[in-house]
Amino acid sequence: MDTNKMCEANRIAWNEAVPILNKNSNINIKELIKNNDYYFLDKAEIKKFKDLSLANKNIAQLCCNNGREVISLVKLGASLGVGFDISDEAIAEAKELAQLAKMNCIFERTNVYDISEKYNNFFDIVYFSAGCFNWIEDLNKLFKVVSRILKSHGKLVIYEMHPVANMFMSYDDARFSDDESNRVYNNYFNNKPHEHNKGIDYISNSVYKSSTMYEFQHTLSDIINNVIRNGIVLISFDEFKNDVSAVFRQLEKKENVPLSFMLIGEKQ
Ligand SMILES: C[S@@+](CC[C@H](N)C(=O)[O-])C[C@H]1O[C@@H](n2cnc3c(N)ncnc32)[C@H](O)[C@@H]1O
Repeated sequence: MDTNKMCEANRIAWNEAVPILNKNSNINIKELIKNNDYYFLDKAEIKKFKDLSLANKNIAQLCCNNGREVISLVKLGASLGVGFDISDEAIAEAKELAQLAKMNCIFERTNVYDISEKYNNFFDIVYFSAGCFNWIEDLNKLFKVVSRILKSHGKLVIYEMHPVANMFMSYDDARFSDDESNRVYNNYFNNKPHEHNKGIDYISNSVYKSSTMYEFQHTLSDIINNVIRNGIVLISFDEFKNDVSAVFRQLEKKENVPLSFMLIGEKQ
């Protein structure tokens, strides 16, 4: 199947998933977003963004979902946050949350491959958080866009799920079998699209019959080489034992598998 058709299928699947994730959430996001001291970011991210300094910076989040993270980055001091996501439902919610938070944010519904040329050389920071790359088939095309929208010397910040975690069972599959959680289950080098209709509920792990969607597995070298190939040099790369996604939470307590990584790059 061609890339556009898979992206369109994923748009529909995410439009179905957004209300389900909201219904199953046990936090009141519309109240929390109004609190200027509450950030939907973890400690490692807050420290990194403080070190990079957000003052007077334009920041983009690609695959931003409901925008709570980029809204938090504006609360932390960025002058403008722009979120891009393919899901109509996610972007509608992001616009509502930005209004409630009274933060200077713009949200655009778009495939990340098609981000408007009006953003060329516009951003000081481009940010990805957990659960983005598994929706992206062509990382070279993605980082070409990242490089295009970053200013010269602008920073790339990635805080993502570690590709090694994909070798193990997800929480959904492993929850009845703790012994199985450390067994290698998937081929790290599998690069075929994973077509399924199991739904997307990383909040309460419900399984529902959804429309068909397509996910993609990438190796760490795929990610790093596609960053470098597009004129972005690495400044730092760190691996962590914490699960940033809730997809591999059963592995977190074992502390023997890298579950997340942070990559900082700079456009030349
Ligand atoms: C798991 S969320 C990640 C966001 C964030 N970390 C969060 O927890 O809300 C993945 C997002 O990627 C979006 N997405 C998937 N494919 C996309 C594409 N080709 N272009 C833009 N957004 C895409 C989905 O709509 C979804 O909102």
